[in-house]
Amino acid sequence: MPKVTIDGKTIEVADGTTILQAARMLGKEVAPPAMCFYTNLKTSGGYCRTCLVKVSKGSDKDPRPMPKLVASCRTPIMDGMEVQNNTSPEVIDARKGVVEFLLINHPLDCPVCDQAGECHLQDLSYENGSAKTRTEFERRTFNKIEIGNKIQLHMTRCILCYRCVKVAEQITDGRVHGVINRGDHSEISTYIEEVIDNDFSGNVIDVCPVGALTDKTFRFKSRVWFTKPMSAHRTCDKCSGKVTLWYQGDEVLRTTGRKDQWGEVEEFICNTCRFDKKLTSDWTIEGPTIVDKHSVISANHYEGMIIPNELTLNDIKKLPLLEKNTDGNTEF
Ligand code: SF4
Ligand code: SF4
Ligand code: FES
Repeated sequence: MPKVTIDGKTIEVADGTTILQAARMLGKEVAPPAMCFYTNLKTSGGYCRTCLVKVSKGSDKDPRPMPKLVASCRTPIMDGMEVQNNTSPEVIDARKGVVEFLLINHPLDCPVCDQAGECHLQDLSYENGSAKTRTEFERRTFNKIEIGNKIQLHMTRCILCYRCVKVAEQITDGRVHGVINRGDHSEISTYIEEVIDNDFSGNVIDVCPVGALTDKTFRFKSRVWFTKPMSAHRTCDKCSGKVTLWYQGDEVLRTTGRKDQWGEVEEFICNTCRFDKKLTSDWTIEGPTIVDKHSVISANHYEGMIIPNELTLNDIKKLPLLEKNTDGNTEF
């Protein structure tokens, strides 16, 4: 089995494993961000370039470094390979550039965008982006396209990751949407504006890493951090029936597939479970969904939650390095 070292951590993996998959096995600290790769979608990856890493040693057989940064989601491990992700200033700098490109035409919609709070682009730009923009020209706009009564498309927020196209190709029976045109004219379109009308089309909402495809039945109802996710299941003849219900009080505001620690859906769910079963009595409730402690969604949840060992404001105020201003107040 080939061995790889990523940011100083070594692991043995099965033949054919990619750098990204190996890094995920090693843990979140070394895993590169991935906006287009999706484990359950074949041929995904290779579009967004957020997962770039530096291969500082090709393999034991040929130890030369790779001449350029590579997309970790598309590069298989070779025995003895050494990879730098967060330990490479070149990678950090390139990722910053990728984020800048992704945001070049992106609208400042976060305050009104249903994806806010669970948006991978928000996280990516917070972690790798710059506080200022260097672009002065007007942002790109598109003609509005209706894609049915359940799914809302905001093309201006799309980062062209192709995940929704892969869902349409691989999960639904008959793709009616895809990317048309090229370059900065590229856009998601339902050819001749047909609606996406099949049992699994709602999964495009779950795989979209941004707020380009959102659930019309949830639209503007709440901010996601005011909702409480609960794992639930029902007997369904189309899908596994295993979902997350997003509650506000006693009301189910929306239903999604269950996501893993990488934000990927574990099992795709059908439209009946997603859009039509909004009563608690439709479901067997299993309990609160475990949410990453760094997510805003985990604020105000739950009994038994382990509080992270982080500094509070009072702890910070006691730090000796902080100066007092003339009023005697601490300055931050
Ligand atoms: S897609 Fe994400 S970054 Fe873009 S407006 Fe929505 S929440 Fe903000
Ligand atoms: S609509 Fe969403 S899932 Fe589809 S290509 Fe754009 S960003 Fe990706
Ligand atoms: S996740 Fe690798 S290129 Fe997008």
